[in-house]
Amino acid sequence: MDILEKLKKGEAKLSLVGLGYVGMPIAVEFAKRGIKVIGYDLNKDKIELYKKGIDPTKEAGDDVIKDTTVEFTSDPEKLKEASFHIVAVPTPVNSDHTPDLRPVEGAARILGQHIAKGSVIVFESTVYPGVTEDVCVPIIEKESGLKCGVDFKIGYSPERINPGDKVHRLSTIKKIVSGMDEETLETVAGVYSIVVDAGVHKAESIKVAEAAKVIENSQRDINIAFMNELSIIFGKMGIDTLSVLEAAGTKWNFLPFRPGLVGGHCIGVDPYYLTYKAEELGYHSQVILSGRRINDSMGKYVAENCVKNLIAIEKPVKNAKVAILGFTFKENCPDTRNSKVFDIVEELREYGIEPVIADPQADKEEAKRLYGVTLSDLSDVKDMDAVILAVAHSDFGSLTVKDMDGLFGKGTRLLLDIKGMMDRKEYEKAGYRYWRL
Ligand SMILES: NC(=O)c1ccc[n+]([C@@H]2O[C@H](COP(=O)([O-])OP(=O)(O)OC[C@H]3O[C@@H](n4cnc5c(N)ncnc54)[C@H](O)[C@@H]3O)[C@@H](O)[C@H]2O)c1
Repeated sequence: MDILEKLKKGEAKLSLVGLGYVGMPIAVEFAKRGIKVIGYDLNKDKIELYKKGIDPTKEAGDDVIKDTTVEFTSDPEKLKEASFHIVAVPTPVNSDHTPDLRPVEGAARILGQHIAKGSVIVFESTVYPGVTEDVCVPIIEKESGLKCGVDFKIGYSPERINPGDKVHRLSTIKKIVSGMDEETLETVAGVYSIVVDAGVHKAESIKVAEAAKVIENSQRDINIAFMNELSIIFGKMGIDTLSVLEAAGTKWNFLPFRPGLVGGHCIGVDPYYLTYKAEELGYHSQVILSGRRINDSMGKYVAENCVKNLIAIEKPVKNAKVAILGFTFKENCPDTRNSKVFDIVEELREYGIEPVIADPQADKEEAKRLYGVTLSDLSDVKDMDAVILAVAHSDFGSLTVKDMDGLFGKGTRLLLDIKGMMDRKEYEKAGYRYWRL
């Protein structure tokens, strides 16, 4: 009997290595569909939270975590019990933008020390083409003394879930799967088909699957960079970018991207994986890195425009009272890692402004630990000269002009609505100085 049948009959276990925004929802979904799941993470504190029924990612929710049959553990010995392993550990970049493969290598090492003969290991972490076979496999072979293709098999299946998105979920997004040979591909496809109702796409090789994921995010990054560049150009021309995009968007093949900050650990990071590998092969990226440079400069650009607009409404810049609403890297998600909102904070500080930051969704402890910032409650935001609406959380979408008025002090109210959440005309009519990307 093969692994797929054994998993379905409850005679084999599946493990998740890395229980973050990606790994935890996968573990929970397999468990929900009757598969025996071991959820392993080396972060003991996180495991303790899961065991207590607390979901720090808010992806599944506390109730689901409380009810799940996933066996949460920080003991790698438990991995010996599983025969199908899915790795979903982080793939960040170093400060020089080169890939930091230490978590993937670490996961390969732990698996190498604990896999049983006959196992299948599937990597989900976003990487450049070649990491699974050329970086991870040698580590697993060395640690286990086993031979890939003979004693264990390998596959790759990139993750497309979008934290905070309650519509596009693991089960409803078509999933790319790949395997080192036909038999492994069929097993990997069969296992993921248990949880992915939208179906799987069988990629012709592991490297194709790795490449597909990294270009999905690079494409988004480049398109957003183009919008950001347009925003800078139209800003100089005194034309409202979103109005231009609304007009251009009436053409059937105009792509509906918007300007904005590009943070997080996917879109702003993955392109560097691709350009790093390209560079190693002697090709220096032109388009991808240009896009990265523009997107990475947008926090500074927003802060500069805050200062220019403060001057325009005759408010002293130094010690101006500025509030930033939203600190996470994206809307409706508690994750603050690699948030570009911090670039705004840093640039404002250069002008002698210490902003008040409020974010009802953000993980406050993480914000303190990673950035040293103390997040305030929205109710504490008062007497401001300017408000920067930085993240489109639904909490902010429901703010009325009157609510917004309550955040300001005397004089002209300056609103920088980065994502264009509010009705520009309504605010202008109410006497606001309104600015957006
Ligand atoms: N979050 C997203 O939106 C998203 C979407 C698609 C793909 N991805 C990719 O998926 C991967 C995981 O991302 P994430 O957002 O879930 O990361 P995350 O940081 O939320 O979670 C990763 C988990 O792995 C654990 N970990 C690290 N090294 C480990 C090891 N050696 N053994 C066991 N556990 C280990 C960490 O403690 C953490 O809990 C990354 O490659 C990311 O690029 C993320």
